[in-house]
Amino acid sequence: MTPDEKKQQVAKAALEYVVEDTIIGIGTGSTANYFVDALATIKHKIEGTVASSNATAERLKSNGIPVLDINGVDEISVYIDGTDESNRYLHLIKGGGGALTREKIVAAVSKRFVCIADDSKLVDMLGKFPLPIEVIPMAQSYVARELVKLGGKPVWREGFITDNGNVILDVHNLQIMEPVKLETQLNEITGVVTNGLFAARPADVLLLGSDKGVQIIK
Ligand code: 5RP
Repeated sequence: MTPDEKKQQVAKAALEYVVEDTIIGIGTGSTANYFVDALATIKHKIEGTVASSNATAERLKSNGIPVLDINGVDEISVYIDGTDESNRYLHLIKGGGGALTREKIVAAVSKRFVCIADDSKLVDMLGKFPLPIEVIPMAQSYVARELVKLGGKPVWREGFITDNGNVILDVHNLQIMEPVKLETQLNEITGVVTNGLFAARPADVLLLGSDKGVQIIK
């Protein structure tokens, strides 16, 4: 199977985790897009959705799926989103699509986080995929210098502005042995909005598309 076929396979499998008559959180990226397409087939069974990016909101609306403002929502039953990397503890690196901050907010509000990915995303140690960090533009150079002190090699994502009006630094060369600790440490740098480590609030379930079928890791 190609990576896209595996993403489609796992996106369909995630429909099992949709709780009827509730609000569903929807992630960003190609795997999440396949999930939106799958969700459209059962859209009459849910109350609505909350989107983790403007792009996802547009895709949901074009499929006739209601999109709600998260500030008017008390509870999201389940958040379904892709990832750039996951370890066996379901600590993730996210933000390849630049939507990490809104993704983290939706994950925080959600009772359950179901992560969907093709099996190439499962790794022994996080960090081969450059860690995205959303930064207030004025702090870009300062934050980059602080990241170098931590042993990283930050690269400005040129020409990219997040939905929140900020910039992204992609940090290479990190071997992330203690994801929870590093997530906190990075967020403490002044000017960082958030970083793409989802370790303090990891996924609850990881569904992996593979040639052998969908693998479930909890
Ligand atoms: C976007 C993300 C995505 O979940 C991540 O980049 C995976 O994308 P894809 O499903 O296209 O492989 O974090 O900010």
